[in-house]
Amino acid sequence: MKLIDGKKLSEEIYTQLKNEVALLKEERKKVPHLAAIIIGNNPASQTYVNAKIKACEQVGYESTLLQLDEKITEMELLKIIDEFNQNTSIDGFIVQLPLPKHIDENKVTQAIAPQKDVDGFHPVNLGRMLLNLPSYLPATPFGIMKMLAANNIETQGKHCVVVGRSHIVGSPMSVLLARNSSPGNCTVTLCHSKTDNLSYFTRQADIIILAIGKPYYLKRDMIKNGVVVIDVGINRVPSSTTKSGFKLAGDADFDDIADKCSFITPVPGGVGPMTIASLMQNTLLANRNELY
Ligand code: GUN
Repeated sequence: MKLIDGKKLSEEIYTQLKNEVALLKEERKKVPHLAAIIIGNNPASQTYVNAKIKACEQVGYESTLLQLDEKITEMELLKIIDEFNQNTSIDGFIVQLPLPKHIDENKVTQAIAPQKDVDGFHPVNLGRMLLNLPSYLPATPFGIMKMLAANNIETQGKHCVVVGRSHIVGSPMSVLLARNSSPGNCTVTLCHSKTDNLSYFTRQADIIILAIGKPYYLKRDMIKNGVVVIDVGINRVPSSTTKSGFKLAGDADFDDIADKCSFITPVPGGVGPMTIASLMQNTLLANRNELY
């Protein structure tokens, strides 16, 4: 079994990005500027957004964090998004999900200018991805593609089972892995909460991308020997050994399955750091106006 070290790979990407920032400064050009909007105080969202801002500091980007009250109206939020769209100092921005129930996620996603949509969630970017045109790729699937490539994991002709069909991870992941590209050229099965007999599919998989948000879900009787497991789950589970009273657990039961896998990502230290590194790469693209 080989551990896929997302933390180490993300640090390598940060080194490259720092060099790019140094070059921009030498040429007296503007450094990338990422803005993040967060609404309410969901602790997991706060952690993710703080990590994104910290990553900006690490690579030398400018960053803006806008914390908004849970009670902000949809109209007020859309107005702020429009201001960010017009603000030429901001290269790219994100609105952290999930949103409070009274705000329509589709309206928000579609209000962000595609050229600044470094999350890659706008229909224009998702459509361009589907057509294999240059686009911002959603950060988590983009990071997973880089993990597969960096570890020379063969994908062509392999059966990849994606578990979870969210717009953020599962759906774009299934598209990217089926594309005629490298990594890619997989035969993809997309499973979800309504799939009958899920383990029938996971047992056939050469590669499993697991994004269902259920801690310790994938067990050893659900996989074949030599499978590659990419665990997207970041679940908070109670723990008596940590000060905070919780720890992070993946969607896979790591200890149960690790010795049966050819490759597996740890949680934490696997997909999570690569999601943030990919967002930083998208922000550099936005700074260069390279996609549009
Ligand atoms: N919530 C969970 N993952 C993400 C992400 O990649 N981007 C945004 N904006 N919200 C998220």
